Amino acid sequence: MSERCVVVGAGGISNAWFPPLRQEQVEVCAVVDLRPEAAAAQIAKYQLQAAPRTDLAATLAEFCPDFVVDLTVPAAHREVTCTALRAGCHVVGEKPLADSLPAAREMIRASEESGKLYMVSQSRRWNERHQQVRETLAGGPLGELTTICCDFYMGCHFGGFRDGMDSPLILDMAIHHFDLLRFMTGLDAVAVYAREYNPRGSWYRGDVAAMCLFELSNGAFFSYRGCWAAEGCHTSWNGDWRFTGEHGTLLYDHDQEPHGEVVAGGEGFNRPLAAVEVAPSVTGRPGGMHGALSEMLHFLRTGAVPQTECHDNLKSLAMVECVIESSRSGARVLVPSC
Ligand SMILES: NC(=O)c1ccc[n+]([C@@H]2O[C@H](COP(=O)([O-])OP(=O)(O)OC[C@H]3O[C@@H](n4cnc5c(N)ncnc54)[C@H](O)[C@@H]3O)[C@@H](O)[C@H]2O)c1
Repeated sequence: MSERCVVVGAGGISNAWFPPLRQEQVEVCAVVDLRPEAAAAQIAKYQLQAAPRTDLAATLAEFCPDFVVDLTVPAAHREVTCTALRAGCHVVGEKPLADSLPAAREMIRASEESGKLYMVSQSRRWNERHQQVRETLAGGPLGELTTICCDFYMGCHFGGFRDGMDSPLILDMAIHHFDLLRFMTGLDAVAVYAREYNPRGSWYRGDVAAMCLFELSNGAFFSYRGCWAAEGCHTSWNGDWRFTGEHGTLLYDHDQEPHGEVVAGGEGFNRPLAAVEVAPSVTGRPGGMHGALSEMLHFLRTGAVPQTECHDNLKSLAMVECVIESSRSGARVLVPSC
């Protein structure tokens, strides 16, 4: 018997969800959107046997799905996810978990009280390169990590909800990079000093650029610089990364295979170096949204808890919140252990 779901939010990102839902033979009972024409258009485009709906609570009572896929804008995640959890449905939601820590805590409470899973789709965790970086670092060739840098610079003219957000870069994009930092290194943030700003010439209302200095759980520093209104010489969407440890450095940029150098013994002003042994790339696993969907289906079939279950993912969102708080207060902010 195939699993049944209701999809909420029929905007741009739903185009990345309907193909894997079909591939996994998940039955989409209904597509809910405040704009009925958007739900109808996606149902027609993907030839779904699904009902277009606007009222989520009534739709869940009508179809009793196994899980809900929340693809709404960040400001709607709390309402949509809490409604679904309280109706007895598991939820896989698009990042970010919520648009604030209080909203996130309410959603986590709703998950605990209902006994239903809330997992976040941090699509980049299921990218094979990121698994390769993680496995390479976990092998320990660099020794203890001391310094990590990530740069993200793109000129993106979206239109839509991001143009009006207070912190579009940090809340809607940097959440990916902060979560990747945790995924690739296994380290958590303990404090941050950050400045958000809106650079001259920006077409966004809010602060679309930031410089952040995080202190990590092992004493290492993580420097994050980013901007979504930077024309020319773009980095990768995944950011361009440098990991330096006691014995060497690993680079991962422009989505290319990671590469690096470690000391090979000997003397000299610059010590002799050898190439880092990079872990083999594991291909064939579902990536992106399909990776998140696979973990939800695996949970439904076996009870195995997905890596982005809300309690863990809160640690990535806390990094976002603390950057915003530090930027507003001008102070170094302690990141709660969650
Ligand atoms: N993982 C990624 O790489 C990635 C990429 C893009 C977007 N996203 C995330 O996906 C989410 C949606 O982004 P998008 O670009 O599709 O936005 P969008 O504006 O194109 O679509 C959002 C849709 O949700 C609907 N909606 C809003 N509030 C609703 C509510 N309360 N009930 C029902 N429908 C509601 C809107 O009418 C709209 O059709 C965001 O959280 C965004 O951060 C993730």
